[in-house]
Amino acid sequence: MVKSLGAVALLSLAVLADAHGEHRRNDIHARQNTPAPQPSSGAPSSASGSAPTGSPSSARPSLTITFASTNPTAIPLSSISGDMSSRPTIALASTAAVGSVPSVVAGAPPLPDRNALVPTDYPIPDQIPPLDSPEVDMWWDQVMNSGIDIPEFEPTNPGGCQNATNSAFVADTKRCWWTCGGCVTEDDITECDDKFHWGLTFDDGPGFYTPNLLQYLDEQNLKATFFIVGSRVTTFPATLQTEYAGGHQIAVHTWSHKALTTLTNREIVAELGWTKKVIYDTLGVTPNMMRPPFGDIDNRVRAISLAMGLTPVMWTRSPDGRAFNTQDFDIRLPGVTVEKIMNDWQGLLDFVPQLDKGFITLQHDLYQEFVDMATGYIIPDGLAQNPPLTIEPVSTCTKRRLADAYIETNDNSTYPPKAKLGATSPGGPAGGNGSGDVVTPASIAASLIGGAGFIAGLLF
Ligand SMILES: *[C@@H]1O[C@H](CO)[C@@H](O)[C@H](O)[C@H]1NC(C)=O
Ligand SMILES: *[C@@H]1O[C@H](CO)[C@@H](O)[C@H](O)[C@H]1NC(C)=O
Ligand SMILES: *[C@@H]1O[C@H](CO)[C@@H](O)[C@H](O)[C@H]1NC(C)=O
Ligand SMILES: [Zn+2]
Repeated sequence: MVKSLGAVALLSLAVLADAHGEHRRNDIHARQNTPAPQPSSGAPSSASGSAPTGSPSSARPSLTITFASTNPTAIPLSSISGDMSSRPTIALASTAAVGSVPSVVAGAPPLPDRNALVPTDYPIPDQIPPLDSPEVDMWWDQVMNSGIDIPEFEPTNPGGCQNATNSAFVADTKRCWWTCGGCVTEDDITECDDKFHWGLTFDDGPGFYTPNLLQYLDEQNLKATFFIVGSRVTTFPATLQTEYAGGHQIAVHTWSHKALTTLTNREIVAELGWTKKVIYDTLGVTPNMMRPPFGDIDNRVRAISLAMGLTPVMWTRSPDGRAFNTQDFDIRLPGVTVEKIMNDWQGLLDFVPQLDKGFITLQHDLYQEFVDMATGYIIPDGLAQNPPLTIEPVSTCTKRRLADAYIETNDNSTYPPKAKLGATSPGGPAGGNGSGDVVTPASIAASLIGGAGFIAGLLF
């Protein structure tokens, strides 16, 4: 029953994906009719999305995708689908010692004791946090005293652009609503500074399969940006610490993954504030970048984010409207195959030489199929491109020191916060030690699948 609710909600949100889908759809038709270009170096490996030749209703489109490279240990492309949990989860290769000082972040404080985190000290997962708490009062006062004006726009309707009966919003350049037309401002980070640089990002974690992704990234000596859902942190604190201490960039992706332009000012403050706080309590530092769920941002949400010390990070759109969304999440939509997703990804990689600057992608690490696509195909293919791509976190690909990606360790010289920031969090982090995350799938299955809102909310 929960599942069917989720599917309905997912369908209603598919309109958001459509907002930037047209060009990609054209690419697919072109690519189905023309052989994929051979890479000029390296041995191409071919993975066939061979459709089961059974009844027409079960047939998958027959696409042959020529990857520049794939991971030899990847599971076959044809066995990746939108409802997987067959691959074993692995333990974190190492967990950061409590009280150790992460050497990768200059000026970092010692790591707090993750075992001292008490889940009941935080709001209920996957719901907008209560608005009548001392914490929200404090963050609200900070926003009001930040020196940044918050525009007085009404929240948008649920349902995104297609449900924008308040159609004045759509064309309103003062509002600059990304969801309707992809509007961005100078305050948004939308690309990497240099051509052929790839800002690698993963949203919605930490999750059960994040350690599998971290292991692959370690093997390849790659670093990424992780946009964290605050609700997940007290379940996976060791994973978050390992990402951070391993030199990946940690950033904010809200508490309950709602479309932020639909929320009131105070709800937005609560969503961002609690996510900043639970990350601070776990790491001892607070991120200074955020990504709005679904990319749903306007100038009201931007102003509140900046007032809280958070710079918005989008995924790149080319001038002709191609979104560098890997569409990995679409594997969970009815009728979308992994072959289509990989074909579209190859189309984006083929387009990279035409971009003036580097690009930032959208990927996810919440479910196994996303991690299998990333480690088996999406990243290996990117690694084998010619000219080669430099794969980096957003902070690095925008020429920041990693320390400048956190409020407390930012030296404020090159990237000063736009707002006057007060104390970032009430109380300080605890100290101590601990082992890896002790969770069983059963113990948090309810929070991962328990509610249409959460499932729907994870389209991006
Ligand atoms: C469209 O907006 C109306 C008014 O806010 C709301 O009642 C309705 O549920 C929305 N539809 C969808 C599909 O979200
Ligand atoms: C930079 O500014 C932030 C916010 O005002 C502050 O917390 C931080 O300590 C400053 N960094 C340095 C190195 O002074
Ligand atoms: C932390 O580790 C030390 C030594 O390994 C141990 O003596 C101490 O009891 C631990 N503290 C906690 C809170 O687990
Ligand atoms: Zn998301």
